[in-house]
Amino acid sequence: ETVEWEAASYDMGGHDTYMHKEISEQPDAVDRVLRGRIDDRFNTVHLGGLNLDPREARAIRRVKILGCGTSYHAGLIGASLIEGMARIPADAEPASEFRYRNPVVDPDTLYIAVSQSGETYDVLAAVQELKRKGARVLGVVNVVGSAIAREADGGVYVHAGPEVCVVSTKCFTNTVVAFALLAVHLGRIRDLSVTDGKRIIEGLRKLPAQIQEILEQEEDIKKLAAQYADAKSMMFIGRVRGYPVALEASLKLKEISYIHAEAYPASELKHGPLALIEPSLPTVAIVPDDDLLEKNRAALEEIKARSGRILAVAHREQEKADHTIVVPKNEDELDPILMGIPLQLLAYHTALALGRDIDKPRNLAKSVTVE
Ligand code: AGP
Repeated sequence: ETVEWEAASYDMGGHDTYMHKEISEQPDAVDRVLRGRIDDRFNTVHLGGLNLDPREARAIRRVKILGCGTSYHAGLIGASLIEGMARIPADAEPASEFRYRNPVVDPDTLYIAVSQSGETYDVLAAVQELKRKGARVLGVVNVVGSAIAREADGGVYVHAGPEVCVVSTKCFTNTVVAFALLAVHLGRIRDLSVTDGKRIIEGLRKLPAQIQEILEQEEDIKKLAAQYADAKSMMFIGRVRGYPVALEASLKLKEISYIHAEAYPASELKHGPLALIEPSLPTVAIVPDDDLLEKNRAALEEIKARSGRILAVAHREQEKADHTIVVPKNEDELDPILMGIPLQLLAYHTALALGRDIDKPRNLAKSVTVE
């Protein structure tokens, strides 16, 4: 399964940076990862290169996802999608940690290696160690024919197209969509109902237009970035589905703006980090309109009571926030995909306001092929 990348897609296409180009490409990129994979007759998803027959899919007892950096964050969302839809216990762990703790390798566990480049040494070494111990390993990879793609027993190509900027944007989004496809596929073989399969598929189809709607708010997000760019540090909070979004947004900000940022589960605030809250430490809060809305609003109140500034990413204006970026609502499970997009733009415009070298941040390489 391959997708031809046009040579023209390597030029900047009128954008000032690759990062901006790659953020802007997301509606098309998501369209590409979905293309040809949806089966409306059975409300399921077909993934050509998976090499996992239905009987094998039913025998999986656990899913363990491994990746580094942004790919690990995408894996965290992937784990919650798989656990939620396929009802298989799933979790994600940094590949670099996994390989050094002599993990128990279980034949009934499906291991999934996630990587944009397909060349990250820690992920590749984890895959090789797993294969040596007889495990089944799938790859969720962007670069076709890369080392991890070749080592894996099968997998899903992410089809984000070439990503040149050191910081990952469109590949993160496409990886999460690829996980949603895998979750529907596994779910429909197991216990995901026809109705829920259809509901998620309809949600997936809405994503490109909804991402476009968010991208059209760029001017407003740029103004917000100007207001927060003087911060020395920023806190990012989210709960359950929102937490990996907070982790990824915080990584994006620190990578390209060099502003210190921390991500915490909103529920953990009161167990320590609340001590940091004061007017000079702004908080970015992920506040989806789901069953946890009231809990998230309570966290905003706690921050406001300590005079903290709040920027919310939500489905409607948040009264306790100083500013709200309103994003379109999708199915609850797919909301994290959309909520990450404005925060890519926030990191971008913050870094731009600070005059940073956006495509090549200091001390970082696009793929880390050494230990
Ligand atoms: C992303 O913005 C980072 N530069 C970095 O964390 C990256 O995601 C990580 O090094 C993993 O790379 P990979 O996806 O190519 O394996």
